[in-house]
Amino acid sequence: MPSLTNVSSPPRGSSDSLAEPLVRVEELTVRFPAGRAGFWGQEKLYLHAVEGVSFEIGRGETLGLVGESGCGKTTTGRAILRRVPLDGGRITFDGEDITHVEGESLRRLRRGMQLVFQDPYASLNPRLRVLEIVAEPLLVHGVVGRVRHAEDRVAELLELVGLPPEHMFRYPHAFSGGQRQRINIARALSLEPDFIVADEPVSALDVSIRAQVVNLMQDIQERLGLTYLFIGHDLSVVRHISHRIAVMYAGKIVEIGDRDEIYEDPKHPYTKALLSAVPIPDPKLEATRKRITIAGAFPDLLRPPSGCRFHTRCPIAIERCAHEEPPLEEKARAHHAACWLT
Ligand SMILES: Nc1ncnc2c1ncn2[C@@H]1O[C@H](COP(=O)(O)OP(=O)(O)OP(=O)(O)O)[C@@H](O)[C@H]1O
Ligand SMILES: [Mg+2]
Repeated sequence: MPSLTNVSSPPRGSSDSLAEPLVRVEELTVRFPAGRAGFWGQEKLYLHAVEGVSFEIGRGETLGLVGESGCGKTTTGRAILRRVPLDGGRITFDGEDITHVEGESLRRLRRGMQLVFQDPYASLNPRLRVLEIVAEPLLVHGVVGRVRHAEDRVAELLELVGLPPEHMFRYPHAFSGGQRQRINIARALSLEPDFIVADEPVSALDVSIRAQVVNLMQDIQERLGLTYLFIGHDLSVVRHISHRIAVMYAGKIVEIGDRDEIYEDPKHPYTKALLSAVPIPDPKLEATRKRITIAGAFPDLLRPPSGCRFHTRCPIAIERCAHEEPPLEEKARAHHAACWLT
């Protein structure tokens, strides 16, 4: 079985991938209306899900996005795909400002950007055969007129994801979780996208098959030159597949940099705490290292903390952190963090 412990650097699609990013996000902000407060209901409440997030993803590159539940990872991914309304910021895709693209242009744009979801059980319609499931985007976008005209293409896609082409005539219930996720990936690839947001694509799978699906994604990336935003909880999986990592806390990027930099020399106290919880395969090392627990509760995003959003739980916070927000600044080469103290 392929292993996730080998973390040699995955190759990038092109050597100058950072020269002209495929995806650029600037000051992305998403706030969800969340009712009213106050005696007369005079205060409109907003849930500050994503606040001033900026990053770039080079062609052929994988940016891993990590952070605890509710920090805004999914919302960030959906915002880039223009699936949630923005409250601010700018999104550039392949050199084009897509922040306000609508109608037919948005439809065309969506062909080039696809989403792979976490739950391979919920995302496949049990009443459709694999053929109809994988061919659906082709029909919706008018690439083929009838399902049976898509059979060759679906066979090709199934082969690409390591499934026998004749499986196209089966229904989802006949497949395991890992196989279902392969079907999801085949569907996402049907329109030959350049960019895929993979939202915890292996989190719902058995640990033993996560490696297979992640390795498949990596293999397909190399073959097709794809660019990924890979959202994950499992930090060893994210480390395996990502070239760079962004760490999110309460709607903000607190640290971003090259994969090995982040794992070997984390700068932000939140990243340090997250990484200290990842098990190390070596039992001797595992027994001696210090685990940093994050005290307190995740903040209420209706009223996010002032200053640094992490200050209410930070083990090293000082007075300044409660009042002034630290900028995301370069702490080492290609490695940025938002902290006054590191
Ligand atoms: N459509 C929505 N309407 C209102 N609030 C939302 C909506 N979608 C997300 N939220 C809220 O925005 C915040 C960020 O959610 P998001 O799903 O982006 O987090 P996440 O980092 O993906 O979490 P998880 O790891 O659990 O998937 C959460 O507080 C969530 O409840
Ligand atoms: Mg999510």
